[in-house]
Amino acid sequence: MKKSILLVMLILAVASISFGQALIGLAMPETHVQRWVKDGASLKAEAEKRGYKAEVQFGNADQAQQNQQIQSFLTTGAKALIVGNINDGVRSVIATAKKDKVVVLAYDRIIQNSKDYDYFITFNNYKVGTLQGQSLAKALNLDAATAAAPKYITLFAGSITDANAFFFFDGAIDVLTPYINKGVLKVVGPYPKSSKDTANFARITTENWFASIAKARMEGLLVNDAAGVTLDAILAPNDPIARGVIEACKADAKYRGKLPFVTGQDAEFASVMSIKNGEQYMTVFKDTAKLAEAAVILIDQVLKGVKANAIVVPGAVLASGALKEIGNTLVSSGGKFYVNTYLLDPILITKDNIRVPVDAGFYTAAEAAQITR
Ligand code: BGC
Repeated sequence: MKKSILLVMLILAVASISFGQALIGLAMPETHVQRWVKDGASLKAEAEKRGYKAEVQFGNADQAQQNQQIQSFLTTGAKALIVGNINDGVRSVIATAKKDKVVVLAYDRIIQNSKDYDYFITFNNYKVGTLQGQSLAKALNLDAATAAAPKYITLFAGSITDANAFFFFDGAIDVLTPYINKGVLKVVGPYPKSSKDTANFARITTENWFASIAKARMEGLLVNDAAGVTLDAILAPNDPIARGVIEACKADAKYRGKLPFVTGQDAEFASVMSIKNGEQYMTVFKDTAKLAEAAVILIDQVLKGVKANAIVVPGAVLASGALKEIGNTLVSSGGKFYVNTYLLDPILITKDNIRVPVDAGFYTAAEAAQITR
């Protein structure tokens, strides 16, 4: 009798170590883009709410640093990792995790060229770009534009080490291409026809998403390629870059009082205020609180042994068909293979529906009050 009680207690203790008290390591890429600070906090809260221990580390846009942080999660005995990587240098430590039988979830950014993890959760990143392109087509009224009086645009993309940057750009350029081909929209500066045009694509990318680098590139464009024209639009991939290029334009007399239409992404407070004040044109709201919740619900099921085909992730769809390409990854040998990818839906935000992220509870009460004042 005593022995069996002891045994039951032992089983319960082991179960609580392997589930309830298990550590989830949260490796976020950087803090210079605000969203990740929020992602880290949301993930931690969601994990703790479900009885896990959770720790967040930020990689400071330095893959070596992030690898050390992940290695230390592994050394501490983490059972799962949620990783927003910086570049594919993360592969080595993900391979170690696999050997240790640690569950890895690629979070927001795919881990390329690695077969050592099973799940990826993100937003439909191609659609993020589509929304940026569509909003510009509408703002510039490209359907009615003529080749005799074309509109001018210059192009920016995110970090060349971040697969998302490729999807954002392709989504946007695919919307704009027919107008460019008709001659009603002219690209000023480098013009990659898609992210596959690697030489030109590289020219418009922004190292590690640093807004200061994009701002400097914009300043250069204004006195070189764009010196002889007035830009009507700038494709900027995210909010910090949008604000950087807007700052550069505001220093140029030509744009005082008449800024180009500038796109963005992330619905950062500063950019939503900029939209409210008529500077930045649009942003894309990705509810990262929902992404974090979905990520932890997914990890929780994997840790509990739920089979891939029985996993249910509320608010996300499992990518299939054409959507599968959003989650594709390339093996080093050149062939394509797919990870199980869950996608959430991004939302276009302009002045007209600025309340959407506010109503979703995306900001602090003080920020919300300023936006809606
Ligand atoms: C994310 C964006 C973010 C960018 C820079 C991308 O991978 O999807 O939301 O703005 O990285 O941090």
